[in-house]
Amino acid sequence: MTHRRVPGPKAKEWIRRDEANISPSYTRAYPFVMAKGEGVYVWDVDGNKFLDFTSGIAVTSTGHSHPEVVRAIKEQAEKFLHMSGTDFYYPVQIELAETLNRLAPMEEPTLVFFANSGAESIEAALKLARYATKRPHILAFRNAFHGRTMGALSLTASKVVQRRGFAPLVPEVTHVEYGYCYRCPFNRRYPDCDLACIRYIEEELFHSEVPPDQVAAIFVEPIQGEGGYVVPPPGWMRALRELCDKYGILLVADEVQTGMGRTGKMFAMEHFGVEPDIIALAKGIASGMPLGAMIARKSLMTWPPGAHASTFGGNPVSAAAALATIRLLENGLVENAARVGKHMKARLLDMQEHHPSMGDVRGLGLMLGVELVRDKESKVRAPEVRDAVVQRAFEKGLLLLGAGRNVIRFIPALVIDEKTADQGLDIFEEALSEVEKELL
Ligand SMILES: Cc1ncc(COP(=O)(O)O)c(C=O)c1O
Repeated sequence: MTHRRVPGPKAKEWIRRDEANISPSYTRAYPFVMAKGEGVYVWDVDGNKFLDFTSGIAVTSTGHSHPEVVRAIKEQAEKFLHMSGTDFYYPVQIELAETLNRLAPMEEPTLVFFANSGAESIEAALKLARYATKRPHILAFRNAFHGRTMGALSLTASKVVQRRGFAPLVPEVTHVEYGYCYRCPFNRRYPDCDLACIRYIEEELFHSEVPPDQVAAIFVEPIQGEGGYVVPPPGWMRALRELCDKYGILLVADEVQTGMGRTGKMFAMEHFGVEPDIIALAKGIASGMPLGAMIARKSLMTWPPGAHASTFGGNPVSAAAALATIRLLENGLVENAARVGKHMKARLLDMQEHHPSMGDVRGLGLMLGVELVRDKESKVRAPEVRDAVVQRAFEKGLLLLGAGRNVIRFIPALVIDEKTADQGLDIFEEALSEVEKELL
């Protein structure tokens, strides 16, 4: 693979100007300064071309600037840019709500609340859950990431840097353990564990600390994203649903990262055959235009006019982009994600046999993660290997992102074909082999 001299001179100058003007709270892993994108490829300001396995953090679901999405954006932009869907009506917002309600994996009819981001969709879900149940308490999971606004942050327990210095957070939130079988927090083995992590909630937490009749909702990522691409074991989500049903607790699926076809089904909850009561969406919903949506069972949406709203939520240009995105997803991209994702996972599993640092390979569809370790016996986390591989892949022309403490995620756009996916995986393996030689 050709080695790029990155950052080039133009990128260096932009980064200098960025550092002088932009908040230092952003988390840039390597110096990629984008000039343009097309499909699964991106170019930096110095003319270097890269294969993008990040999709702008799982957002550009249809690839960069898909012509049909761009056309929908242009057509809507020429009609009007904004009117505020909270105070006025416009067809494109209504059509998008109809489409989402048709797709929602819930039997009861649903209604949609529009926002601008994942965190805002979560805020809306949090407020609705409290409002509808008249209960204060919320359960969320260790290593969960739900966003960084105060409500969403209170549910987030992914990295302490995200919480340090911001207390007091929203009260009445308890974090419990996720079904992370590779590193079971209870030191048990699936299936002999009999889902000890779920039983703990009922048998311990609900007895000693949190009255279940005070719990409004359990917020869950169907696959933990920022926390490390963790897929819960079979039966786990169903057990969670049963726990919710037993105590009248709402199940809120945070599908901000897993939703809109990424896992090979429109919503990841469909893999588990479990219906949530509320779904939060954002990221891939509009191929890169800012949009969030909170979908809830109709009987829960009892809040009156004024209880919750957002000036920009459901912006017409974003809504038009979302409708074009969903058309593409339904016309083949969701199946493509399932097919190419399966191919990529098989290759990663094959690679795992030859690489001592590939502790775990997991994921569904095009939401795949590899957990890097010092060795497979001890499972000691190897963040230094992960960081070096991400950096080395960048120099070789592949954009990757980390997740959790020591995971690399593979989240190309849903338009990717097997040949291009293989090219990306070749670069990954070459980078990994070099780094293993140097660091293990
Ligand atoms: C599962 C999940 N929920 C919520 C969010 C927050 O979304 P946003 O960054 O758009 O606020 C993210 C972002 O990574 C996410 O992955």
